[in-house]
Amino acid sequence: MRKNIVAGNWKMNNDLPQTEVLLLDLLDQTKSSNAEVMVAPTFPNLYFAYKKLKDSFIEVIAQNMHFAPKGAYTGEVSAAMLKSVGIKTVILGHSERREYFCEDDTILKQKVATALENEMRIIFCFGEKLEDRKTNHHFKVVENQIKNVLFGLPETAWTSIILAYEPVWAIGTGETATPEQAQEMHAFIRNLIAEKYNTTLANEISILYGGSVKPGNAKEIFGKPDVDGGLIGGASLNASDFMQIVNAF
Ligand code: PGA
Repeated sequence: MRKNIVAGNWKMNNDLPQTEVLLLDLLDQTKSSNAEVMVAPTFPNLYFAYKKLKDSFIEVIAQNMHFAPKGAYTGEVSAAMLKSVGIKTVILGHSERREYFCEDDTILKQKVATALENEMRIIFCFGEKLEDRKTNHHFKVVENQIKNVLFGLPETAWTSIILAYEPVWAIGTGETATPEQAQEMHAFIRNLIAEKYNTTLANEISILYGGSVKPGNAKEIFGKPDVDGGLIGGASLNASDFMQIVNAF
């Protein structure tokens, strides 16, 4: 079912004491929400965060995982490991993973397959770079990112998929896509899914927007008909800002 979702991506921020402070602040701020709320701390803090939030309305999710079930992959983390510490949702394909860790469509396809085999939910991220938008290739780039990784999946798999459109030029830059630009791309994505699968499925998929979402712009962005929430970076590191964004619904 299509849901409103706000997920905080903490990236490589917060050691254990800082994580504890932020989690306690979050718990202090609100006891319920109109949207599904998730936070993604770093790997070393996942279990701690899971234990702290397990009786709350906030789900703890992972920022990444490897596709192999186990073995000689120094520095990597498997789906089974995540599940063993209570994690049921993983972010895959974030532009920082694509850019700095060379994650391409082939790798992401394997990661998606592994997450699904392990019955995990996926927040699948994609988005164009500034030069793509400037040269008017943004629709094609986004279409390929989605098609290449997700369009081989059976319709049933899509109940585990949440999409996150994150234009790279808007991530951590303070430059947000306008609500109209977000809506235009989200409608385009929904239409792609309707053409490949069907309208019912397209209308069931949650499509989040990410890129410099702040308390001051969340309401307007989330107010667009095809925007079902946000993936929040910088502003998720402050409990009050994050909860204001959550409460924009
Ligand atoms: P930002 O990051 O909100 O700091 O732009 C969003 C993201 O990378 O998910």
